[in-house]
Amino acid sequence: MKKNVVLFSKIPADQQARLEQAFNLTLFDRTPETEPKAFIKALANADGMIGSNMPTRIDDSFLCQTPKLKAASTISVGFDNYDLAALKKHGVRLMNTPKVLTEGTADLIFTLLMATARRTVELSNLIHNGQWTKSITPEYYGSDIHGKTIGILGMGRIGKAIAKRAHHGFDMNVIYYNRSAQPDAEQAFNAKKLELDEVLKTADFIVIILPLTPETDRLITKEKLALMKPSAILINGARGRVIDEQALIAALKSKTIKAAGLDVFEVEPLPTSSPLLQLDNVLLSPHVGSATVETRYAMAKCAVDNIIAALKDEKPTENWVNPEVG
Ligand code: DGY
Repeated sequence: MKKNVVLFSKIPADQQARLEQAFNLTLFDRTPETEPKAFIKALANADGMIGSNMPTRIDDSFLCQTPKLKAASTISVGFDNYDLAALKKHGVRLMNTPKVLTEGTADLIFTLLMATARRTVELSNLIHNGQWTKSITPEYYGSDIHGKTIGILGMGRIGKAIAKRAHHGFDMNVIYYNRSAQPDAEQAFNAKKLELDEVLKTADFIVIILPLTPETDRLITKEKLALMKPSAILINGARGRVIDEQALIAALKSKTIKAAGLDVFEVEPLPTSSPLLQLDNVLLSPHVGSATVETRYAMAKCAVDNIIAALKDEKPTENWVNPEVG
């Protein structure tokens, strides 16, 4: 008998067709207003779930209401919305899509870095608003990127892809903060591992690409921001909660750091009341690290492979996040 799977994100038709062939597929059409209760109800009889950005955290109380659930396939590399201890308790396998989005996400983070440093959006808006009436004066000058020091917080796959761009493309000096040393990055990109405070004090560009865990939750506090140079630019492509957002707003307002490029926020979508929207020295993008046609297709395919392997073939793929579940 076919197993029941709930798909709660839009994916390409050919990948949805693979799910329809393998499972009894139910589509859960999520809107920003979707109540967690409706989501839980849709999953009450499900063996598997696949999608991204669900409307609630998958924790013990959620899993008590989805007793048949055996596998969750997230269309993302991040899985901070899943409580791993609860998944273990309820015997639910979790798979993610780590490799396919590495280069695309590094591209977006570098885009944010370059556009923030060179004030691309601000200067484009100036022309759109009919304000380019004379040569640009020093208050509109940007900052050099080539030859500067980039401090990467999180030297995993994406961190290394950023280091590659920085070292080979822009002749930048690469320093990093990571739990463990990464000799491959040290060799390939001349990267140097330092303590967090040293990275913050030294770098011209701080790029955050750490996973959100209890250890990294609000890692970048007011005190940590105060260590950065006044000329430094902060880029966050990880999760909003890695930074104390109120402290960041204060640092940007008082210009104790120069500017920020942010793809992620404490609350998403970013509320229209956010003070970030009032600041000129912040460039915003709507959590689009992996949002290219090619990468999102590859992520959907990978997530479909993952759920089929876990539920149908009973052979989890290499993207199995919690093998301790068995
Ligand atoms: C990821 O894959 O984790 C991206 O941030 C999208 O959620």
